[in-house]
Amino acid sequence: MEQFKKQPRLPKFAVPKRYDLRLKPDLSACKFTGSVSIDVDVVADTRFIVLNAAELSINTGSVSFSPPNSSKVFEPSKVDLVEEDEILVLDFADTLPLGVGVLAIGFEGTLNEKMKGFYRSVYEHNGEKKNMAVTQFEPADARRCFPCWDEPACKATFKITLDVPSELVALSNMPVIEEKVNGPLKTISYQESPVMSTYLVAIVVGLFDYVEDHTPDGVKVRVYCQVGKANQGKFALEVAVGTLGLYKDYFAVPYPLPKLDMIAIPDFSSGAMENYGLVTYRETLLLFDEQHSAASNKQGVATVVAHELAHQWFGNLVTMEWWTDLWLNEGFATWVSYLATDSLFPEWKIWTQFLDETTNGLTLDGLAESHPIEVEVNHAAEIDEIFDDISYSKGASVIRMLQSYLGVECFQKSLASYIKKHAYSNAKTEDLWAALEEGSGEPVTKLMNTWTKQMGYPVVSVKVKDQKLEFEQSQFFSSGSHGDGQWVIPITLCCGSYEKKKSFLLQTKLETQDVKEFSFDSNKSSWIKLNVDQTGFYRVKYDEELAARLRYAIENKLLTGTDRFGILDDSFALCMARQLPLTSLLALMAAYREEHEYTVLSNLISITRKVGRIAADARPDLMDNINQFFINLFQYSAEKLGWDAKQGESHLDAMLRGEILTALAVFGHKETLNEASRRFDAFLNNRNTPLLPPDIRKAAYVAVMQSVTSSNRTGFESLLRVYRETDLSQEKIRILGSLSSSPDPTIVLEVLKFSLSPEVRSQDAIYGLRVSKEGREVAWTWLKDNWDYIEKTFGGFLISRFVSEVVSPFASFEKVKEVEEFFASRETPAIARTLKQSIERVNINANWVKSIQGEKNLGEALQELAYRKY
Ligand code: BES
Ligand code: ZN
Repeated sequence: MEQFKKQPRLPKFAVPKRYDLRLKPDLSACKFTGSVSIDVDVVADTRFIVLNAAELSINTGSVSFSPPNSSKVFEPSKVDLVEEDEILVLDFADTLPLGVGVLAIGFEGTLNEKMKGFYRSVYEHNGEKKNMAVTQFEPADARRCFPCWDEPACKATFKITLDVPSELVALSNMPVIEEKVNGPLKTISYQESPVMSTYLVAIVVGLFDYVEDHTPDGVKVRVYCQVGKANQGKFALEVAVGTLGLYKDYFAVPYPLPKLDMIAIPDFSSGAMENYGLVTYRETLLLFDEQHSAASNKQGVATVVAHELAHQWFGNLVTMEWWTDLWLNEGFATWVSYLATDSLFPEWKIWTQFLDETTNGLTLDGLAESHPIEVEVNHAAEIDEIFDDISYSKGASVIRMLQSYLGVECFQKSLASYIKKHAYSNAKTEDLWAALEEGSGEPVTKLMNTWTKQMGYPVVSVKVKDQKLEFEQSQFFSSGSHGDGQWVIPITLCCGSYEKKKSFLLQTKLETQDVKEFSFDSNKSSWIKLNVDQTGFYRVKYDEELAARLRYAIENKLLTGTDRFGILDDSFALCMARQLPLTSLLALMAAYREEHEYTVLSNLISITRKVGRIAADARPDLMDNINQFFINLFQYSAEKLGWDAKQGESHLDAMLRGEILTALAVFGHKETLNEASRRFDAFLNNRNTPLLPPDIRKAAYVAVMQSVTSSNRTGFESLLRVYRETDLSQEKIRILGSLSSSPDPTIVLEVLKFSLSPEVRSQDAIYGLRVSKEGREVAWTWLKDNWDYIEKTFGGFLISRFVSEVVSPFASFEKVKEVEEFFASRETPAIARTLKQSIERVNINANWVKSIQGEKNLGEALQELAYRKY
């Protein structure tokens, strides 16, 4: 018995082949009963069967094992559910015969409120509150619904039967084969599934409407949503049908199941979940309302659908062997979702927007408290935390880097052969590299191991040395220190034009390259840009001469948007790491005044906001000039875009307008604030006013909140009224995300309290956490005061967001101490990594503040930038 405790994995002397699962949820009592018969292959001599179970009560008398070809039924002498290890240990008096027998278990459980396992979600129907029953099993919560081998490698087939109220819709992974109504209850049986992992099993029971379509080869696709909102499912349906076709060609394998359902769940902890054949979503990421959804919502729906459907191949058909390879699922699905979105909506320039992924990956991975892409997992509780920007964004970025190194066609062919080889089975990172190596003849494993087995990434410093370029790599840390990691880096560079290109693998610390062929000279137009198109996962530091030439190239519009993005983003990171003075960063930012590309401007906005915050700590005396400079920076695009949508304007302009206006409001631009308030008033009088379309609503809300104080609460109260009236989640989120931008700490506190009230679904509470800089302190006090409640209420990965959002904005060493002291007695595995990362960020900020305070010419430089005439 003891031998099975505290083990990261289940013993493998008995493995499941097929589950026959029957469940009967009771939606009013919030309970369920169930029974499962599992075909188990006993492959080694054992007296024990060990599987997973948690928070279930097992009917001890119902447990039996019937071996093959024998009439003898084995009953366990002991049935032990070990809650700490989430295992069920069945001890039989005799050794079990080898071969496939049937293990039967009866059990009961609670439909919990924690959004994991088998849980209940609440919705309204005809003004009445009702429960629905939903499953969320990834990563390790199937065991909260039925006893099972809850590991991705233990694939088996599933034959599911449900007993549910007759008037409800009940869905599972496979199509219904039979439905028998028996008074108030009906019994529904579903087709048996192909082999699949337990974390992909799904069940949903409730009242829903749907819209339906099918693919050219007959896969039935439906989008289920709240009764009366079927129209809002049409967009996702269209994307799904398009995407299925695309993936079928790309992976060279058709969609493996007869149907695909997608469904919006009101209480849902992550964004969406790729359950085989029954994908579940938050409402905000599945439903699109032509009238009240924004362009960014549309893009959100498309990319999430594309992401989850990619998993139907990458993840569901071919599954990672263990959670160490989670990135194979998530990094890959993230990358492919861009491929699909680009093909469906080329005008969105989604590959340029992909750079936000790379930036997110680089930002997290610049911390000493980051982790390698392939990360050791020893306990189920550690899995939640690795659904992070390393697995998703860095994972996606290194795949993009490899694709661009190997070439699009070779990459796709090798992938298709990987899928074919491992279909209905499991794979590890090395299997993917092997397929790509075979398809390309390149040393993929050697190259990629440096990116997935060690954390961090390099900064490549380039210098000109008599007609030659010198490249030096060292590990980049946002803290400014240097590590001794080394990578095999696919370097690309352009000189003076995109026609003059060169590429090589940098395999050592230092290397010199001859660039005579480019006749690189002292002419200013002769710029050099590394990491062409920003497909590499590294940063570049140019010597002063090269940096000046690049600035010239930006001002003279000689570079592509992706390259302009990269130069800005790397400079910002170097500035935070105190390797570039803030004055130099600001001077570079000024070169982006006539920038027009969405992704570049969007990043410029986010950088101005971060710089604005750090400067407020370092040099409060300069804030007027800083804000003025930022306002100047966005004037050009603000004037071009205006407040009203132009006829037939692009999706990107629609998204940009909202972001620019929000930034101007935060920097205190008077005209923007006034116009916002005028339009908001019109909106209050008429929710369909053309003066406030969805794309600029958030901007108006943020603007309104800038002038809300405890003595002038009208705007706040109006927004709360809109919040309460709307039944569109996207609208609620827009409002929640705006309220805490008020500069008045008492208002911020009130918003935080509101976030934890029953009026906010618990998954949405985190939207209120991004508070104004003036609200930082009050948020921290609030977090401390409410920690016990928060910890109890928000399990899984939501809890870590509370820590990172509230702690990371600080910028002093005193706060580091305070945070450490508070959490010293409150640390748990679920927040361990995030807490360390957040504290590291505060340290980085504090050092950055000090270095900015040491910049003697900052005041003067800002004076010039704030009042520069163009
Ligand atoms: N497999 C995940 C869902 C998930 C996340 C389950 C965390 C358990 C823990 C799903 O495929 C996913 O990645 N969802 C994303 C949305 C996606 C578009 C990036 C999410 O939930 O954020
Ligand atoms: Zn995913």
